[in-house]
Amino acid sequence: MTPILRSRVRGVGAALPARVVTNAELAHRVDTSDAWIQQRTGIKQRYVAGDGETTASLATKAAEAALRHAGLETSAIDLIVVATSTPDYTFPAVATQVQASLGIVDGAAFDLQAVCTGFVYAVATADKFLRSGSNKRALVIGAETFSRILDWSDRTTCVLFGDGAGAIVLEACESDGLIASPGVIASRLRADGRHRAKLFVDGGPSATMTVGHLRMEGKEVFRHAVGMVTDVIKGCFADAGVTADAIDWFVPHQANRRIIDASADKLGIPHSKVVVTVDRHGNTSAASVPLALAVAVEDGRIKPGDLVMIEAMGGGFTWGAALIRW
Ligand code: UT7
Repeated sequence: MTPILRSRVRGVGAALPARVVTNAELAHRVDTSDAWIQQRTGIKQRYVAGDGETTASLATKAAEAALRHAGLETSAIDLIVVATSTPDYTFPAVATQVQASLGIVDGAAFDLQAVCTGFVYAVATADKFLRSGSNKRALVIGAETFSRILDWSDRTTCVLFGDGAGAIVLEACESDGLIASPGVIASRLRADGRHRAKLFVDGGPSATMTVGHLRMEGKEVFRHAVGMVTDVIKGCFADAGVTADAIDWFVPHQANRRIIDASADKLGIPHSKVVVTVDRHGNTSAASVPLALAVAVEDGRIKPGDLVMIEAMGGGFTWGAALIRW
């Protein structure tokens, strides 16, 4: 069999801000309660960046952790893709800040913006670079400080989001291309810009010359979420020639426990195979999937050889999924 190139996960890392904000603390700021937030979302707490903690500093820490986990020097990396909607600056890209902090001077570095789906988009993008042979090892990072674009007087959004970063190292390796062999096996990306008004930020450099605040019609997003993510997941299963029974771990975007449970139920995935971190991280947008991956690798759930499905859905709308043999 002629070998093909596949992108293998070599390491995973995460970084969270120092400060934890509980639901009870938020109930002092806006008209909400711990009971409402837990019942409607499953969130108990979230991390919020303090002075000196930025998307780039969190991304760099997560990248360093992933490189340590992979046992690789920074010089091994020739591609950095950062998924974020909350960059430190309009430009340069967070990816180039991470690159400079790591002392890397070779290769390419760029940011990619697909809101909560950003990490899935970044994995699919880096995978295509690696499989083309143009690059050998990629840092793929999801990093956000959504606390900086929240309207802290709006209880319908400010209780939902948190800050953090997660990273994986992907490496181009020769593969026999079989389903049992490690690497990214399938990915599906979608977008439909007609849904813009349901989840957007009301400011930006060109339109308003401001940063703006996140605005969301939560119910409308919820209504679309389950159908959209299960559709791309089924697409990945079809591409790989497997069914839901084959997967060992389902690592969904961590927006709302009810969306996670409903998606798993629709796909017939038992809840024991679902990695849930929304309770402790809240919705960290593009950071949510790699943060959840880092938790499940660290606590020994995700092991080499496991088949892992990641998925996300967010502003745009954008949505996507990727099937990865660990
Ligand atoms: O990551 C990107 C994708 N984003 C998502 O996936 C978010 C999707 N949406 C959701 O997770 C849910 O829609 C929410 C958690 C945002 C809201 O849950 P819901 O069950 O859809 O509640 P709702 O918006 O229908 O609000 C129910 C009630 C409303 O009061 P009335 O109109 O029934 O009197 C809200 O005003 O809850 C009220 N409410 C709150 N009450 C206490 C809304 N926010 C709060 C709050 N605390 N923080």
